[in-house]
Amino acid sequence: MREIKKVFVAGSGTMGMSIAQAFAGKGYEVTVYDIFEKAIENGKKLLQLNQEALIVSGKSTEEKSAQVIANISFTTDLEAAKDTDFVTESVVEKLEIKRDFWGRISNIVEEDVLLTTNTSGLSITAIAEAVNKPERFVGMHWFNPPHIIPLIEVINGDKTDDANAQAVYELSKSLGKQPIRVKKDVPGFCANRVQFTVLRELLHLVEDDVVSCEDADNVMKYGLGIRYACLGPFEIADMGGIDTFRNISDYLFADLDNNQDGSPLFRSLVEQGRLGVKAGAGIYDYPDGKADIAIKERDEKYMKVVDVLGI
Ligand SMILES: NC(=O)c1ccc[n+]([C@@H]2O[C@H](COP(=O)([O-])OP(=O)(O)OC[C@H]3O[C@@H](n4cnc5c(N)ncnc54)[C@H](O)[C@@H]3O)[C@@H](O)[C@H]2O)c1
Repeated sequence: MREIKKVFVAGSGTMGMSIAQAFAGKGYEVTVYDIFEKAIENGKKLLQLNQEALIVSGKSTEEKSAQVIANISFTTDLEAAKDTDFVTESVVEKLEIKRDFWGRISNIVEEDVLLTTNTSGLSITAIAEAVNKPERFVGMHWFNPPHIIPLIEVINGDKTDDANAQAVYELSKSLGKQPIRVKKDVPGFCANRVQFTVLRELLHLVEDDVVSCEDADNVMKYGLGIRYACLGPFEIADMGGIDTFRNISDYLFADLDNNQDGSPLFRSLVEQGRLGVKAGAGIYDYPDGKADIAIKERDEKYMKVVDVLGI
């Protein structure tokens, strides 16, 4: 395996900038690439904001933060990837854009450079069709915000060499992350399948007027979320007793929602322009700067939980 010193991060948006910091924090020489100068300017602001938040929370120091920032450079020139050792891509979630990017970059870097995409759910195999030497192409799915959330899903496409997926897994561990292996390229990989199964059921209960959105959130925040932060569902089943869980699943599975058409509530919110914190309103309202406060409070809580759990 090629020794990794220089990392090329494509996309200076929400995910790319945070991933760049995860690598820079471990001493890698990181180049962040974007096609838009404006996006690079935004990326630099995001970098400052993230680092300030880490210092305020005691997770970094002025000195360490300055080193992280010094380890990151920016470019709009794809040819800058020429002597890179590892590529991670977080450009917009559109198959044709990702394929165009990968078709070009996989012919610029050396043939032994590992190539990873942070797609949320596009097929790794479908993106890999554009890649020169697709056996080195691996899904590396981070979770927002990547410099705080430990999980990374490492996904094999149909043509991925398993040794390369394992190398990405080991690299993720060396970054202080908690990677998992997704051995087949299924839509949504593992975490988004679980997340959207939970959402489908809660949307069904809200739309059927069984619980309010607030109480649906409370079920997760004050009950299941606390358990799941400490134990996985299989560990919880062992604690509860497999016979009891078998009995419950025997009568409950048949009643769970099986909606194949998407959520009427989500459709209606999108039609009203209620897109969430970025629009100042979604399921809840975020007027007068409340969106920024909500994001700041979220990051503070995530950091505290990660700290308490010792991850
Ligand atoms: N936001 C999340 O919660 C999240 C979580 C996990 C994975 N992802 C995935 O990460 C990727 C990026 O998401 P994001 O939230 O950072 O989006 P974003 O819109 O914040 O950033 C995308 C960046 O890609 C740049 N870009 C667009 N076309 C490009 C190209 N051809 N070459 C280089 N740069 C280009 C844009 O200028 C922008 O800066 C997507 O694939 C997304 O599905 C997002």
